[in-house]
Amino acid sequence: MNINPLMSHPRIKLKISSWFHHIHTATQDVQKLRVRQIRCFTSLPSSKQQERRNDHNPPAGQHLSRNCLVTGGASGIGYEVTKRLVQDGASSVTITTRDAKKGEKTLERIKDDLNVQDVPIRIIETDFLNPDSITKLWTALFDDASKRVPVDTLINCAGLSQSKPLVATSTSQIRDVLQTNIEAPVKLSQLLLKEYLRLGTKTKSHKQISSILPTASFNIINISSLLATRSGSGASVYSASKAALIALTRTLVLEASEIRSNYPYLPPFRANTILPGYIDTPMVRDFSSLYKGQLEKQIPLRRFGSSVEVADAVMFLLRNGYANNTVLNLDGGLSAV
Ligand SMILES: NC(=O)c1ccc[n+]([C@@H]2O[C@H](COP(=O)([O-])OP(=O)(O)OC[C@H]3O[C@@H](n4cnc5c(N)ncnc54)[C@H](OP(=O)(O)O)[C@@H]3O)[C@@H](O)[C@H]2O)c1
Repeated sequence: MNINPLMSHPRIKLKISSWFHHIHTATQDVQKLRVRQIRCFTSLPSSKQQERRNDHNPPAGQHLSRNCLVTGGASGIGYEVTKRLVQDGASSVTITTRDAKKGEKTLERIKDDLNVQDVPIRIIETDFLNPDSITKLWTALFDDASKRVPVDTLINCAGLSQSKPLVATSTSQIRDVLQTNIEAPVKLSQLLLKEYLRLGTKTKSHKQISSILPTASFNIINISSLLATRSGSGASVYSASKAALIALTRTLVLEASEIRSNYPYLPPFRANTILPGYIDTPMVRDFSSLYKGQLEKQIPLRRFGSSVEVADAVMFLLRNGYANNTVLNLDGGLSAV
């Protein structure tokens, strides 16, 4: 029975049947599209799917076989990160310092701390204020013919802090901070990304890569600062350089993924950032006890963090195979204030 008498009108009947035709055709199209999409997801040859699934890190307790570069590895946070990488079974850790003697002392200190005779640490004297420094550093890394991929993990830790009102900051001071805190990480990240691409072009399978590179992933960890997201009087250039590290990380994640879509057998390339608050290192040692006390009162946990706690965060990001473009606050709650 027709409830609406208009529906039975021959002209309207014709229109309704043509709507039904359109709706039916559209539904069929959607179904075809869905089938096509499902086919797209399943169209990789099974060997490639297998390769893609293998992109996780070893579980905690197992060693990370990595070749690491830690800039600023002879001091503060970089020192603790270097020590943890060695403890965690890194195949090699190259550290940079502006002072080779300081580097040698670091080596001895780490051996003492770990109570071992030998550690796979190499020191390369590097000052990022020297325009040739990055090229020289990278060339030196590739001098070691025993390693076909001398770096797969880059920890950009070296940094120069400056506390000065912008109006009182000289051009050379601005340049020094930017060159150390952002230009060096950008150039080193570019070199590692190029190495990743080269590995993709010169190999043909996951198996072939595994024989060259035992590690589960390429990694970059940028040590930024809480000042990247918070204002601080006197920190304009430093804050700007640290904020740029977050932006760099974001783009690295995308560009590395684009490379991997062309070479799916490559291990994943992950990039992450840590934003430490106040950490007890040589960088803050010249704070007067009065000033330090005032700062501690503002921190919800009422204390500065330690280098060990930052090193823990680095190891978490290296181990967690799903951490990519993570921006990790490590500030005792100061970011909440
Ligand atoms: N401590 C904090 O409260 C805090 C807070 C937020 C972020 N951070 C960041 O954490 C990172 C590590 O700092 P830290 O606290 O461990 O202080 P640190 O002990 O003073 O370490 C700074 C490191 O940067 C290196 N460096 C400085 N200028 C350099 C240059 N021109 N060329 C090459 N290397 C240079 C130093 O190498 P040398 O061995 O040559 O001295 C040193 O290893 C820095 O990026 C810093 O901005 C620190």
